[in-house]
Amino acid sequence: MSTATLSSLIGVLILGQVAGFALVARHRYRGKFRALQTQALGGGPGAPPYRTPSDAEEENQDNVDPDELDVFPSAWAGYKEFVVQRRTPEDRNGDVCSFHLAPADGARLPAFRPGQYLTFKLEIPNGDAGSTKGVVRCYSLSDRPRSDLYRVSIKRVPAPPGRAELPGGVASSHFHDLVREGTRLAVRAPSGHFHLIEDGDLPIVLIAGGIGITPMLSILNALAHWADPREVWLFYGVRNGTEHIMKEHLETLRDTHPGFHLRVVYANPSDADIPGIDYHHRGYIDIRLLQEVLNLGRYEYYVCGPPPMMEALVPALETAGVPAWNIHYESFGPASLNRGQTLTQAQGESPITVRFGKSGTSVPWDPAASESLLELIEDQGIRVDSGCRAGSCGCCETRIEAGEVLYRQQPDADVKPGHCLLCIATPSTDLTLDI
Ligand SMILES: Cc1cc2nc3c(=O)[nH]c(=O)nc-3n(C[C@H](O)[C@H](O)[C@H](O)COP(=O)(O)OP(=O)(O)OC[C@H]3O[C@@H](n4cnc5c(N)ncnc54)[C@H](O)[C@@H]3O)c2cc1C
Ligand code: FES
Repeated sequence: MSTATLSSLIGVLILGQVAGFALVARHRYRGKFRALQTQALGGGPGAPPYRTPSDAEEENQDNVDPDELDVFPSAWAGYKEFVVQRRTPEDRNGDVCSFHLAPADGARLPAFRPGQYLTFKLEIPNGDAGSTKGVVRCYSLSDRPRSDLYRVSIKRVPAPPGRAELPGGVASSHFHDLVREGTRLAVRAPSGHFHLIEDGDLPIVLIAGGIGITPMLSILNALAHWADPREVWLFYGVRNGTEHIMKEHLETLRDTHPGFHLRVVYANPSDADIPGIDYHHRGYIDIRLLQEVLNLGRYEYYVCGPPPMMEALVPALETAGVPAWNIHYESFGPASLNRGQTLTQAQGESPITVRFGKSGTSVPWDPAASESLLELIEDQGIRVDSGCRAGSCGCCETRIEAGEVLYRQQPDADVKPGHCLLCIATPSTDLTLDI
């Protein structure tokens, strides 16, 4: 055999081996996805095993194969107690802080789908000696699924501009000011329909504005950990370097994963921010920028950011020809997008009455005064649980004793038959609620 033939043969063997490794990696990854999907959705006992190693395991056993480790258990019902293990400041301003949470019972944690969130019930001091009020809020998981810890990253919300007389955000201030290592917190299991499509084939575009980066971090860290072969772009917009969170981490991911492309956009860079190093574009993430960089080919888009960004970008992607099923988005505040799924309040002739079954009181429904049943109920001084106020967390789910409701948008949370989500529902007939 000549030297040239031998070299070609070796080349073919090496290529074959590389392709084999890629196929095995893809197959393992898809196996993990199926396990994750089944378990995160309350999966059955036959679900294939999957868990990821903890930090300690990663440090001690770099070559550990996640497939050989224990199984993620299934999710819990209601609230479970967690203990804060550590806090990590994430930006130069000190406005964003990560909280690492371990279950108080030391049990293994269920998997979640990257992009999902946790719901917290906080007991916030009320001012009166020793008394507290319960406040429910949602926070996206900001790291990949692990069996020992969850991480959330929370931005302190100040009073609205020009309204200094108002208090800052109740829950975010509580986290920043009072939640310390060792603090115990009541947490509902991960949920939410905004998450990575784990077995998708299209390359991925993540678009994050401000604190909307948190679900994207979870998605990115999971993709990197699973050695997912898909190409990933992250467009991350903030005001300037002081708000740029996890900068080093994102740059390390970019430098170590050739398929990951990072585009940082500063709206208002400071003198200390260096173009081409700290940020790539000046201004806002808009359709023009996406067209310029991506040529808007076939991608799976994930968008999370402040209302103006979402309101501009999501419809613009659709107008630019991106199929609606390739655009996934989540808003951290009241719903701001209407993609044609919205049901409107029925314009009936006769007035509608809402009755509260437990107290027996009734109030007329006035669509000009209340946007949702939740608002109507709160205006009556009745306390009900609410978290996202956007149909996502399921906290305000309430049983309907009689009557029917319409939703102003498609609920994101799963709703039990005969129940409704007060925060996005309006009555379409006379209604009696189990309140
Ligand atoms: C699915 C989901 C995921 C989320 N993930 C994250 C995340 O990863 N990280 C994150 O930081 N946030 C996240 N959020 C947002 C988070 O849930 C809270 O909405 C946010 O922290 C603000 O809550 P708060 O209690 O601090 O503010 P609130 O107390 O709800 O106050 C909000 C604003 O209202 C102002 N205000 C207070 N009183 C009045 C008044 N009387 N009149 C007018 N204005 C008033 C406050 O000053 C503040 O500006 C997420 C939300 C959702 C729905
Ligand atoms: S408050 Fe979250 S679904 Fe209504």
